[in-house]
Amino acid sequence: MEETLRDLELVMAAHREALAQMRAQQSPRRAAAPVVTSDPRALLMQALTQDIERVSGIEMTGMMTAKLNRVLSSVAPSELEAWVSTLRRLPPTHPEWLSLIEALTVHETFFHRDRAQLELLAKLLPELVADIAGAGRHKLRMWSAGCATGEEAYTLAILALLALRDAGHADDTTDGIVCHRPWSIDVLGTDISRLVLTQAKAAVYSTEGLSSFRDLPPMLQRFFPVMPRTRETGDIEIRGVVPAVRQHVRFEHFNLMSGAPPETGFDVVLCRNVLIYFTAEARFKAQLGLRRALRPGGILLLGPTDSLADADAYDLRWGPGAMAYVLKSTSHG
Ligand SMILES: C[S@@+](CC[C@H](N)C(=O)[O-])C[C@H]1O[C@@H](n2cnc3c(N)ncnc32)[C@H](O)[C@@H]1O
Repeated sequence: MEETLRDLELVMAAHREALAQMRAQQSPRRAAAPVVTSDPRALLMQALTQDIERVSGIEMTGMMTAKLNRVLSSVAPSELEAWVSTLRRLPPTHPEWLSLIEALTVHETFFHRDRAQLELLAKLLPELVADIAGAGRHKLRMWSAGCATGEEAYTLAILALLALRDAGHADDTTDGIVCHRPWSIDVLGTDISRLVLTQAKAAVYSTEGLSSFRDLPPMLQRFFPVMPRTRETGDIEIRGVVPAVRQHVRFEHFNLMSGAPPETGFDVVLCRNVLIYFTAEARFKAQLGLRRALRPGGILLLGPTDSLADADAYDLRWGPGAMAYVLKSTSHG
């Protein structure tokens, strides 16, 4: 009981912190108020920002609008109208749309981001693995939605390997952890940006500066051996994801505004630090897709400031400073 109360206090503290962060973000994130204007350029920009919100879900706050203006500063006023009207006729998957969205998105990420939440997931995984085995399955399926350069997807694969090893379904080897047959792990990483997906597939990361390894626990370093230096890398140290992890991870292009999820039946779905950039409507739409992607009993993990759109569909699990949502069997689809 005492432990439960302590956990509850920690969750409440995390919530207070998340709320404070959200409030701090609110003033710069406030949606740009539509300006009543007859200026043709301003009218064009208003139409464009509405289209961007529809296509990508990204909320065109004052800050984002300023970013858009910077991106378009090199487009001559005479070309802007033609470009905007062409863009409006193109499908969201067109390279022209993708490169515009690319310029507006934030791709900040690193391995083992949000330790508290990943520790909670690690605690829940044994039960999940037992459930999967009980259902006669031998595959752990996870989706990192909005994976950026892939660090989150590889982190998930490592946690899954550790859980299978601890359950006796995989062995530690000098090359990493190897699953016993017929067990396997399938982690899907998706993002709207094709550029970050290319980097994710390459699975190599620099250790320079505020790197992808900034919060990696020392015990996980073994999954990222230092790569041999080449003429291109010079003195920069590069670490690669070990093949025993990499083989379980694949990446695909996917826009969370597409409606239906890319696949269904996932045991775990993570969508962190993505929905904070979305409009309320887009957050709702994206979360509906995340729910459809989960199997009943599957776990949803959102970012620390994201609120759950359909709380009745889930059972809450909490750990120190983190929360996870387990899809009720009656709420699937
Ligand atoms: C800040 S990163 C978060 C990366 C990772 N989830 C994490 O928490 O470290 C946000 C990612 O969401 C992606 N994104 C933004 N809008 C998206 C959309 N409509 N569909 C899919 N991905 C989107 C961006 O391209 C970016 O790579």
